[in-house]
Amino acid sequence: MSGSDPAARLLECLRRERVVSGERLSETLGISRAAIWKHVEQLRARGYRIEAEHARGYRLAGIPDRLLPDEIVTRLTARRLGRRVVYFEETDSTNVQAMRLAREGAAEGTLVIAERQTHGRGRLGRSWSSPAFVSLYGSWILRPTLPPADAPQLSLAAALAVARTLEALAPGRVTIKWPNDCLLDGRKVAGILTEMDAEIDRVRAVVLGIGVNLNAGTRAFAPELRPIATSVRLATGRKVDRLAFTAALCDALEAVYDRLLQEGFGALIAEWNRYSCLSGREVTVDCAGHRTTGRVDGLDASGRLVLIGADGRRTPIVAGDVSVVGGYDKTRAAGGPRRGGSAR
Ligand code: BTN
Repeated sequence: MSGSDPAARLLECLRRERVVSGERLSETLGISRAAIWKHVEQLRARGYRIEAEHARGYRLAGIPDRLLPDEIVTRLTARRLGRRVVYFEETDSTNVQAMRLAREGAAEGTLVIAERQTHGRGRLGRSWSSPAFVSLYGSWILRPTLPPADAPQLSLAAALAVARTLEALAPGRVTIKWPNDCLLDGRKVAGILTEMDAEIDRVRAVVLGIGVNLNAGTRAFAPELRPIATSVRLATGRKVDRLAFTAALCDALEAVYDRLLQEGFGALIAEWNRYSCLSGREVTVDCAGHRTTGRVDGLDASGRLVLIGADGRRTPIVAGDVSVVGGYDKTRAAGGPRRGGSAR
């Protein structure tokens, strides 16, 4: 639907007013009563509940549990991120589609959403299981004025935005595991896959792919993932309004993105460290077959994870897979994640 589409304008009128007569709708939209009826039927076919109240008119009684572009946009405060939404009921991977659109020149902020992904992609070549109509699979196209080497900061900043958005649903229970896994009660609830189209010294586009397990039930997770992954619904017992969550995430992403570009990553570190489940812990980081062990000091001004070795030397880590050394692992509380999450 677009703004000039009569069905979209009809929906706008129904949203604004409690009950609207067919006659008023016909006048406002400049189309016949028969055409109004046809568009009402079309909207009903898309899952909108529109009740006809005797002698009074039409009433919007419910909207479909679908991440429809118009429904996201009407809930947004953000001015750029999520203002244009490309929607798929099913696609291979929103990251793949977003990168294609980015190369075709799509504007910054464009959000690609899918209700289901057939080849959802995770970090380090893993997959991301993406059952239909229960969670959020979205990829935002960004065109930041950052050098390519700083692009990982976008993933870290995005993790902060996801954590803030989840915090509103489960206060005090959200943590981040470097670089960008979001955990709820120690189990992975969201993951981020950032991909880049760049020249050696210039970023053309970054695709920020985010998967958040919102209303998935236990059976949405493969048996081996059940002890280490969760959804907001499983953890809180409450169904999440996926549209409200998606719009709130766009708002949070825009806020951290603007701050990152204006003030640098340093402005986000203190809050990031407060969410980190690794601060002060002994960890091992695996990166391309190379292992580094040390106590986590926190993030440095570029977003690298700083480890303090047994000899007191500080080693900044740029990328890798982190596991906590020995003993009880707080990042895996309630059987929480070693790696991966809703998928690998
Ligand atoms: C991870 O391994 O933790 C990252 C998972 C990222 C999954 C999201 S879902 C939306 C976007 N499309 C993809 O194919 N992957 C990302």
